[in-house]
Amino acid sequence: MPDESDVKFYELSLSDRLEQLSKESGVPLEALKVLTGEASLSPEQANHMVENAIGVFVLPLGVARNFIVNGRELLVPMAIEEPSVIAGASFMAKLARSGGGFTAETTQPEMIGQLQLLDVSDLEQTRKKILDHRDDLLKLAAGVDPVLLRFGGGPRDLIVRTIEDSAIGAFLVVHLIYDVRDAMGANAINTALEKIAPKVAEISGARVHLRILSNLADRRLARATCTIPLADLAFGDYSAEMVRDGILEAWAFAEADPYRAATHNKGIMNGVDAVVLATGNDWRAVEAGAHAYAARNGRYTSLSTWTKDKAGNLCGFLEMPMAVGIVGGATRVHPAAQVALKLMKVETAAQLAEVIVSVGLAQNLAALRALATEGIQRGHMGLHARQVAVAAGAVGSEIDRLANQLTQEKTIRTDRAEQILKEWRKQ
Ligand code: MEV
Repeated sequence: MPDESDVKFYELSLSDRLEQLSKESGVPLEALKVLTGEASLSPEQANHMVENAIGVFVLPLGVARNFIVNGRELLVPMAIEEPSVIAGASFMAKLARSGGGFTAETTQPEMIGQLQLLDVSDLEQTRKKILDHRDDLLKLAAGVDPVLLRFGGGPRDLIVRTIEDSAIGAFLVVHLIYDVRDAMGANAINTALEKIAPKVAEISGARVHLRILSNLADRRLARATCTIPLADLAFGDYSAEMVRDGILEAWAFAEADPYRAATHNKGIMNGVDAVVLATGNDWRAVEAGAHAYAARNGRYTSLSTWTKDKAGNLCGFLEMPMAVGIVGGATRVHPAAQVALKLMKVETAAQLAEVIVSVGLAQNLAALRALATEGIQRGHMGLHARQVAVAAGAVGSEIDRLANQLTQEKTIRTDRAEQILKEWRKQ
């Protein structure tokens, strides 16, 4: 997996990569073939997943290498259409190896469900009334998912909040805190909320309006740290100090400015979403949670933190909500998601979250390192030029030839690619 074999992996043909992956992971070749897309999600399966299904939509799937998370070597499947992301993650994971890789952890998998209580005349008295029935309500909520209870999950707490000021005046919000264990948890939470809603209405005399989970899953956090030894940061004409300080300056920009923070966090989500997607999880939920968390102190800011330690090494930290599961939903139905989980050898949702947050941190480092030194375009060019060549209609050997010419001309545009192709084909 590490170092020089990485170069070899990149150079292998598609089918040889699969064989190599099978050898490294112990997952049988037959099972891995699902990842090629040929035997993946069928239109018939899709028909059971969404309404008006007409087929499936596929994305490139790659594997990030060199990752060590909590001392464990792993291969990380990533579904993404953007060039440079998988290479960036793999390269940064390699840099992180000499500092021990990534150390990651999660909080308990507690999701939050919300009930909106309207037409409340005395907010404080109603709040107290509901809290007096806290234990009964939790018991009622526990009854909806005996499987989750058996695995140690279930309702944990009931909190009543007051929204003092809104377009419709003041109202109450009940938060049901629910430990969803290895599930993403949306169904468990929403079912439990709908179960307790009539009882809450009865106790409070209020009109219970919305009953839905919150994607600001700030009780279900994942955290990763890494240390990049200073000396390993040097490359080309850039000294290690220049690279490190350039990264710290780039981070300070994101920390201070929402315009930059949005792009900085988008870079993190390039890595996060790709793994979330490859494992059949709800990436919109993770996206929503990430950005809401980034604005939790009233100003949108960077999700990550970069500092230097006493020895001058570069230290990264990322903390974000991570509502992902390994049971239920598309993680169970999508054949490629199942294989992706096997490839990573994750056995709990917490382990999956730890891998994802580590990839997010690696991806952030890849972007900052490039931006703080040679710029982002250089790394992008090769694959981007190939994408443009294919979009312009190049086939077979034309693809590489056209991509080379576009790169040389430093004009990577589809109109120019079409023009060149037309000229070649005329000759
Ligand atoms: C591009 O997909 C992601 C970056 O813009 C992230 C960043 O600017 O930090 C390169």
